[in-house]
Amino acid sequence: MKSPPRLVVVANRLPASRVGEGAGARWERSPGGLVSAVAPVMEERGGVWIGWDGGAGPAPRPGRAGPIEVRAVALSRGEVDRYYHGFCNTTLWPLYHDAIVNPEFHRAWWDPYIAVNQRFAAAAARASRRKGVIWVHDYQLQLVPRMIRERKPSSRIGFFLHIPFPPDELFAWLPWRSAILRGLLGADVIGFQTQASAENFVRVAKRYAGAEGTERELTIDRRSVRVMACPISIPSAEFEKIAASPSVRRKSAEIKQQLAGRKLLLGVDRLDYTKGIPLRLAAFHELLQDRKLSVNECVMVQIAVPSRESVPGYEETRREVEGMVGRINGEFSMPGKVAVHYFRRSLSREELVAYYLAADVMLVTPLRDGMNLVAKEYVMCRDDGTGVLVLSEFAGAARELRRALLVNPRDVETLKKTIVQAVRMPEEEQRMRMAMLRSNVRRHDVHDWSRGFLEVLDE
Ligand code: ADP
Ligand code: G6P
Repeated sequence: MKSPPRLVVVANRLPASRVGEGAGARWERSPGGLVSAVAPVMEERGGVWIGWDGGAGPAPRPGRAGPIEVRAVALSRGEVDRYYHGFCNTTLWPLYHDAIVNPEFHRAWWDPYIAVNQRFAAAAARASRRKGVIWVHDYQLQLVPRMIRERKPSSRIGFFLHIPFPPDELFAWLPWRSAILRGLLGADVIGFQTQASAENFVRVAKRYAGAEGTERELTIDRRSVRVMACPISIPSAEFEKIAASPSVRRKSAEIKQQLAGRKLLLGVDRLDYTKGIPLRLAAFHELLQDRKLSVNECVMVQIAVPSRESVPGYEETRREVEGMVGRINGEFSMPGKVAVHYFRRSLSREELVAYYLAADVMLVTPLRDGMNLVAKEYVMCRDDGTGVLVLSEFAGAARELRRALLVNPRDVETLKKTIVQAVRMPEEEQRMRMAMLRSNVRRHDVHDWSRGFLEVLDE
């Protein structure tokens, strides 16, 4: 059988990032869903991964991480500010997430976005062979598909957006909307997490970039571009294996014991304003105040990975979350029975899975989220069939995980009722729902996602 062509992945982040500066610098697994999903695909298939290492200044030399050839793209201090903190995370991220915080539009950030996208495109063109396959990822690199096509017209170029694509009413705000669309339309295949995002894209591509065609196929410059919804997923078998390991089981039993056998309500998120952590805490706080729940019976654990701390909105969210945790604990904790445990740090996969195994209720309540892999990870770890997933309607995952308790996280009264329903759900109902959820995730894991996308790109 012919082996598949070498795959070149282009993403803003490398699988590992440099944290800290100078002699104190160390490497850590990069945060977020993109790396969680793409890393297992690349570990299985091999190929080149072009990305940024998280630092400012010269890039480390090309290297290898197992079957992955790693090539770092350098960003200067100014580019980290204007491209990464600025255009990517103060303009695009909030705009694409329903403008939960106000997106800022600064002309001085646009040129650095172009310059950095050019650098990624040049690195991709260098890494790719003739007629090679190049897969570009996410909102940081939307100009890259066209830039690669200009350099290497014979390449097959895919693009996948990991976050939502906004409706016309929001996308239209962007002063550089046509250039961004033309950049994306340089790809042969463009994938989105949901059908709604794909439809939003098609509408604006016709309106602002002169594309023509149908929901599934656009034509521009006499080329055709395939548009599709292909929801991302997790390496299911890997999570099942970790969940079954005796050391993780022991750790999970230990966690239960340390929490005095109370029902555990768990939140696991990047510390991001899109994740709805304050509303989740507010709901728990009010349930304690209304005496619908008590600390004798329940405990909440919120695990939050630090993220983008120099970007507006993030520091405020952190302060808000930490203030709320302090208030809830001040009012309700008792000796040996803390109401909310809050960890602001990254955990190893094994530790995280031990928490998933210990959690009776998983609270995934983002205000807007492209997919949300945490929801799928929780489900895949629940191999005894118990546990309840409370899931925001505004996460991409809600399109697939219909048997979760779906909720509008801004409707705090309903959120409270849903949390109580989750805590009190009879085991039989838990098992019935969890069986369906697990078969959803197992049927479509991250390897199916990548195969599905690359097959279309191959056609
Ligand atoms: P996002 O991509 O917005 O960060 P996702 O839920 O899709 O959201 O992906 C988050 C990923 O980060 C998941 O794979 C999850 O396991 C991982 N993660 C989240 N919190 C932590 C943490 N505290 N420690 C380690 N990994 C975490
Ligand atoms: C989300 C985005 C990714 C990003 C990740 C972590 O998952 O879709 O593109 O890498 O968050 O954010 P960061 O800014 O730290 O790379």
